[in-house]
Amino acid sequence: MATPHIAAEKGDFGKTVLMPGDPLRAKYISENFLTNPVLVNNVRGVQGYTGTYKGVKVSVMASGMGQPSIGIYSYELFNFFDVENIIRVGSCGAFDSELHARDIILAQGACTNGNYASQYNLPGTFAPIADFNLLCMASDECKNEGVRYKVGNIFSSDIFYNDGSNGMEWTKMGVLGIEMESAALYCNAARAGKRALCICTVSDSFVYPEENTTAEERQNSFTQMMKIALEVAVKAEKL
Ligand code: HPA
Repeated sequence: MATPHIAAEKGDFGKTVLMPGDPLRAKYISENFLTNPVLVNNVRGVQGYTGTYKGVKVSVMASGMGQPSIGIYSYELFNFFDVENIIRVGSCGAFDSELHARDIILAQGACTNGNYASQYNLPGTFAPIADFNLLCMASDECKNEGVRYKVGNIFSSDIFYNDGSNGMEWTKMGVLGIEMESAALYCNAARAGKRALCICTVSDSFVYPEENTTAEERQNSFTQMMKIALEVAVKAEKL
């Protein structure tokens, strides 16, 4: 049952799919966190794997970068492969002065400069939000793990190299950080009647540009985020 961008069969994916941006990250996650991972998609090198975690069938597939890309993959997973939950596991830049490199943002809502939601012809502006159940589960898990995290709005930008504004005007609205995918993911989940959550580790701070992380620190914080996402996937099996 191939779709334009996913060559897999119905049933090849678990109820929950974890989505990093990078296909090589998807491979790394499958090899290091899943039991008996099987490659279920490799169209355009967008590797998708399904295995188990604590006995629960879980998949991991890359989203690529930006709203158009995650828009395609999450749409096909939700609407053609019966996936119920997508948890983006990404990185973001921090706008908030309480956040530092390696901290975690749980994106409760996603502002955007993109026009993904214009396709729905709504008589107003849609507010893309995370699924409340997934958000609460992730927040509980962050507390249990003792990680530094904040819950709030994120800004999904269509532009990485922006010669006009770096987006920090959004801090005046309490927006915590910037990435490039959540708003489209949340729109697709809403339209399909499914669930989505974006968990991001802070890779860089706009407030503290001098903050640097070593490769080892980045790896450790990534592992921490993966543990949180996988525990949520296990709990989400019962939703
Ligand atoms: N912009 C957009 N996405 C990002 C950034 C950024 O500065 N940092 C990490 N993801």
